[in-house]
Amino acid sequence: MSFLKEISPLVKKHFLSENDVLSRRAAQITAEIQQGERRNYNEVLDLSSGDLHRGGIKPITFVRQVLAACLYPALLEDDSLPLDVKQRTENLLRECNGGSVGSYTESSGIAKIKHCVSQFITRRDGGVLSSPDNIFIQSGSLMSLMIMLKLLIRSEDLCRTGVLIPVPTYATFTLALEEQGAAIIPYHLCEEQGWTLQVEELHRALQEARKICNPVALYICNPGNPTGHLQSRKSIEEVIRFAAEERLCLLADEVYQSCVYGDDTEFYSYKKVLSEMDSNISSTVELASFNSASKGFMGECGLRGGYMELVNLDPAVMKYTHTLFSIAPCPPVVGQIALDLMADPPKPGDASFPTFSEEVQSIKNMIRKNTGRIQEVFAELPGISCHPLKAGLFVFPCLHFPPKAIKWAKKRQMEPDMLYCLHLLEETGLHVRPGCEYGQRKDSHHIRLFVGTQENIMEEALQRLKTFHMRFMKEFS
Ligand SMILES: Cc1ncc(COP(=O)(O)O)c(C=O)c1O
Repeated sequence: MSFLKEISPLVKKHFLSENDVLSRRAAQITAEIQQGERRNYNEVLDLSSGDLHRGGIKPITFVRQVLAACLYPALLEDDSLPLDVKQRTENLLRECNGGSVGSYTESSGIAKIKHCVSQFITRRDGGVLSSPDNIFIQSGSLMSLMIMLKLLIRSEDLCRTGVLIPVPTYATFTLALEEQGAAIIPYHLCEEQGWTLQVEELHRALQEARKICNPVALYICNPGNPTGHLQSRKSIEEVIRFAAEERLCLLADEVYQSCVYGDDTEFYSYKKVLSEMDSNISSTVELASFNSASKGFMGECGLRGGYMELVNLDPAVMKYTHTLFSIAPCPPVVGQIALDLMADPPKPGDASFPTFSEEVQSIKNMIRKNTGRIQEVFAELPGISCHPLKAGLFVFPCLHFPPKAIKWAKKRQMEPDMLYCLHLLEETGLHVRPGCEYGQRKDSHHIRLFVGTQENIMEEALQRLKTFHMRFMKEFS
């Protein structure tokens, strides 16, 4: 007997979502090319997801050497491994039960690695103290965010728990919220001013929401996905003040914190800014912030290592948090090791330092060059506008479609940017995501492009986009 009838409508909705049409078609085209079908391109170029290694970026040597030796300690006898790699491996294996990465660990992560992460946070924030007791490691930052949502969301209440989220936003988080039964309270980022977060808009969204749900938390993504914006210190202060006045818990998703490229731009963490505000705020506003080994220079998404730091949580709530983490399966040990290496990379004087810094610099240079080229190409194209990228790993240009193109999409009962992406994929083999997946203002249209790929691939992708876009605009003008 099947329990198909019992499957929740939400789960069915996820699986039936047309959002995946693009990925499915991209996979089909790849298979068709492999089977010898002739097209005017010889492969699909995938700029759809924020995955550096999928984009062809090589893993950092130091990271992979330590991981390899942790997985296969016989490599410690190999003369080709630098001394600091061997020392780090030995130190890490000492922290693993039975000296092996194959053992279970504490559910919130290996104590020594939590200590290393807290020291990293203290250094990042110019000395603001961080305690390992407030660090929770999980298999990726999204998993700790989901555990935090379990604490916040009271699914049994008649009046649903509300969470404020930006529009546009990281789509997987919206799905996670829906799954936990939260009421989603959208607040729009201001595209005209470079996707800034405006407090008046937060007030508007909150007032509206209070009529229908019980708002408890405010989610911020800084630097932004998909928008690539970076909040100023002043903007962060305003948001924290708003959270204090409205008694909202802050969920600061800061996974792109090491991807900051714009001139005169600096990343400020919510934790640092909060700690420097008046004591009635700094000691009361509840904050959960998130970071990950998936993003930044390492891009080790597949290893699944992320952490959450909690600040100002009621001790009783902290107790529940510890309990929730203790009943979750422990995060993968390789992901925890990746976090340790992110938090404490080689230093000047270490044998691995020259290669490590060269590799990191070359990834940063590649992203800078790619974003520069994207700006140049977009500036030449009609019907497309884009703010200079300040941070993160995506550009999110606005597409100004001619009315004929919008009519054409309506006739096919599709969002215009989704139809644009499908045709772009079909005609040129370039796979990017449509703005409708991230939320956008009514009647505005976007595409999201990943910028972390080799320069020659980016060049090829831009040529394909340019050819398609020119033809598209001509056809519909
Ligand atoms: C804004 C944002 N937060 C969280 C995540 C998830 O990261 P992790 O791999 O650590 O779960 C992503 C992944 O793309 C992201 O873009």
